[in-house]
Amino acid sequence: MFGRVKSLDAILATAEKKSLHRSLGPVQLTLLGIGAIIGTGIFVLTAAAAQKAGPGMMYSFIIAGAVCAVAALCYSELASMVPVSGSAYTYSYAVVGELLAWMVGWALILEYAVAASAVCVGWSGYFMGLVRSWTGFELPLMLQAGPTWTMAGPDFSTGIINVPAIAVAGAVTWLLMIGTKESANFNAVLVAVKVTALTMFVALSLPLLQGEHFAPFAPNGWFGPPGTSGMGVVGAAASIFFAYVGFDAVSTAAEETKNPQRNVPIGLIGSLAICTVFYLLVAAGAIGAIGAQPTAVGIAPGSAEFTQQCAALAAQGTTPLVCSNEALAHVLRSVNYTVAGDLIGLAANLALPSVILMMMFGQTRIFFVMARDGLLPEKLATVHPKWKTPHIVTLVTGVFVAIAAALLPVGQLADISNSGTLFAFFMVAVAVMILRVRDPHRARPFRTPFIWVVAPLAAVGCVFLYVNLPFEAMAVLPAWGALGLVCYFLYGYRKSHVGRGLVEVHEDDPDAPPQPVAPLPGGIKLD
Ligand code: ALA
Repeated sequence: MFGRVKSLDAILATAEKKSLHRSLGPVQLTLLGIGAIIGTGIFVLTAAAAQKAGPGMMYSFIIAGAVCAVAALCYSELASMVPVSGSAYTYSYAVVGELLAWMVGWALILEYAVAASAVCVGWSGYFMGLVRSWTGFELPLMLQAGPTWTMAGPDFSTGIINVPAIAVAGAVTWLLMIGTKESANFNAVLVAVKVTALTMFVALSLPLLQGEHFAPFAPNGWFGPPGTSGMGVVGAAASIFFAYVGFDAVSTAAEETKNPQRNVPIGLIGSLAICTVFYLLVAAGAIGAIGAQPTAVGIAPGSAEFTQQCAALAAQGTTPLVCSNEALAHVLRSVNYTVAGDLIGLAANLALPSVILMMMFGQTRIFFVMARDGLLPEKLATVHPKWKTPHIVTLVTGVFVAIAAALLPVGQLADISNSGTLFAFFMVAVAVMILRVRDPHRARPFRTPFIWVVAPLAAVGCVFLYVNLPFEAMAVLPAWGALGLVCYFLYGYRKSHVGRGLVEVHEDDPDAPPQPVAPLPGGIKLD
């Protein structure tokens, strides 16, 4: 299985045969990246980061951003060398062989589908907040959130099912099935909405900054009190990493980019840099204006104990930042900028569904590429005759996303998504180093600078963040991986096109994989 490598030349030949119109420039690529990056992480998980790290979450944003920056440099080299679809999965297939490529593809399900669920739950919090603020209507709490999960099982005292999250997952699935795609222009409008909302937040909150809100700076220390997992400044970094996920969407656009050698690295690194600056300013504004307000030292956000503490505080009429499901809107309402708080809520309501769409779209296209390689049943990727979309795989993805969104809290979903993403990023960092050794003379339009420093840093950074995730999220990756291995040996190993010697793909080949489908959001098409 390790020997089953799909050669880079075969991958490039396939891409060349079905080459796409190169239309995206550096600005569009950067906007595409920002469109995929800014979402639930900053709008919602700021509250969880404040509970874990206190004001020290400023450092958490820097640590997570730094790991993403070195990973982005590695992505840039591979994306410019292999400007084809499938991202980390495709690179791994070419470098470390089919088995690990399958594992990366399998981990990308966590990255994309579970991230989509997390954004659905994030949207739900903002939606209910806006409805409450405008109409006073309150859905029963048990229908606004799923249960809390521990190693002992679900605790239904905090919620049973998240109905709004199911609704938005269903709506986005339907849009994707009937072939809705975000155009580059629509994406630009939503990016403008998000950036305007964050700019307004910073402009209103920073002038209220009070030095005393930054003390104690790190109530849970760097790694959290003994006996806890995923707490402290580093634990918050592992969680807030979610806020940066999505920049790799730019690498999937390499095939449609003008001068990808120059523009893909600009898009990847530019979008990441812009978001990092925004995130630091937003974090400073949130903490500076009202303080981190952790409920109690050492209590993990999302735990049953935490939820009970929040409920008790709510009964007394107070909601600290850390308990809010709509962190940024909450900060502004707390300082009596009610209308501005509602506007932030409106911006989140409008813009978060596009992040769900990007994530679910990415997921369906990764399934699609894996099916094209024979590792998943090709029927799964059947294209609907009228809608021209892979409706079956989209529906399956949508059901999975809705179930996870209905039953899990946003923080846990984000942490699980991070575990898969960190694995994929790790593999990209390893792949870029292996290729430098194995294939040193291949043209590298973009070369990762100081590769022997940057790529090891990226790999170590991913491992470092992974081991600082909460224990439950950390445990998901090996369990998910084991399930993936079983699936591979039951199906993919026997059906693989590379394994069966069918690497070259021809449209008139009876074994030909599903035909290309609708373009990616932002005007990107795969294959
Ligand atoms: N980075 C994206 C978000 O925060 C996934 O929603």
